[in-house]
Amino acid sequence: MEPVIPDLRAVPRADAYARLLEMQALLLHDSTDAIAGMTTLSAMLHHAFGHLWTGFYRVVERDRLLRVGPYQGSLGCQDIAFGRGVCGTAAAERRTVVVPDVHAFPGHIACDARSQSEIVVPVYDAAGALMAVLDIDSPVLDAFGDDDVAGLERLVAWFTRTTYVPVPA
Ligand code: SME
Repeated sequence: MEPVIPDLRAVPRADAYARLLEMQALLLHDSTDAIAGMTTLSAMLHHAFGHLWTGFYRVVERDRLLRVGPYQGSLGCQDIAFGRGVCGTAAAERRTVVVPDVHAFPGHIACDARSQSEIVVPVYDAAGALMAVLDIDSPVLDAFGDDDVAGLERLVAWFTRTTYVPVPA
């Protein structure tokens, strides 16, 4: 196993995600713990690509509310309602949302003014229920393309081995 997270900024994205999938498999092969998976994946993605914010918003009220989970980067917003911002849109519509320019996305929630582009990917558990979204913010315009969608969707497929039990309200 590689002792440190490799810098993959100069590597073609498809190859970079292949490396990260191998790392994820090595690091988490005997885990079914969703929080361990979120923490590990946040760190890998954040440091491999030098993103601004990389982490998870967890579903704490089904179809109603997301709450910040494990992440790397500057401070994130605490709670996001389904349907609000990029995260809430991806959660409500159960689809990956790519935003090339956050200033052109109506309702974008600016947790960090340096954010220029964003991708949000739904995360499902073993029962096929939406358990979280993976949110990545970049300080660069148009930072995410088809290779990112494909690579990130493959990485979050790891969570289909987990069952996330939210803390009761
Ligand atoms: N920009 C996100 C909010 C989360 S933070 O950027 C970490 C959104 O519009 O949903």
